Amino acid sequence: MSAAKRAAGRAAAEVVEDGMRLGLGTGSTVAFFLDALAERRLDVAGVPTSEATAARCRELGIRLLDVATTTELDLAVDGADELDHDLHLIKGGGGALLREKVVASLASRFVVIATSDKLVDRLGDAFPLPVEVVPFALGPVRHGLERRGFEVRTREEAPGTAYTTDNGNFVLDARLPGGIEDPAVMDVELALVPGVAEHGLFVDLATEALLGSDDGDVLRLELGAGDQR
Ligand code: A5P
Repeated sequence: MSAAKRAAGRAAAEVVEDGMRLGLGTGSTVAFFLDALAERRLDVAGVPTSEATAARCRELGIRLLDVATTTELDLAVDGADELDHDLHLIKGGGGALLREKVVASLASRFVVIATSDKLVDRLGDAFPLPVEVVPFALGPVRHGLERRGFEVRTREEAPGTAYTTDNGNFVLDARLPGGIEDPAVMDVELALVPGVAEHGLFVDLATEALLGSDDGDVLRLELGAGDQR
């Protein structure tokens, strides 16, 4: 598995060009990307999507940009928990979904890096959708999701202790039996639930995907193009 993640991460580092402003994702696949990026010693800088990624960038000497003064990014690179053939994603397994979505929205190009087993026909059938909720609204949002047919669990840091995001919010992991039929419709519907800070459905944000396999091969998917190796 880590060979597949490394292959995807290294392939994404090859896409980066000198002078680019980057969105820097979060997770174990991104960790391989950051290592490979640092090795290239390019003159680049990026907005990190989590405190963990920011800390790793400092260790590696990758220059950080302040999101407050960033209006556009050339390229975002991030992992995913699931992706479908339209390059819609489920993200947030690592809890960084809100910052990840903000950063992805600033990028003209968004490359997803993942292992090939994360490509699915229907999102949400196997992996529950993470929903970030402001603490006050945890109960109402949970009930709202249950009314929509989701099976909901509050993510925990340890038994009895709710997991808290970098933004001080909680995460509900919401599984819809049978998966999410229309990600675009669900995207809007969930965004309208009061108390939802963000949800992990990324619709029409990714422009391409690099999917690694254990043998080191990387499958490239691009919107509107056939699969290319
Ligand atoms: C972080 O919140 C997530 O969106 C990650 O990008 C996603 O969980 C993929 O992580 P891995 O690369 O560790 O599988």
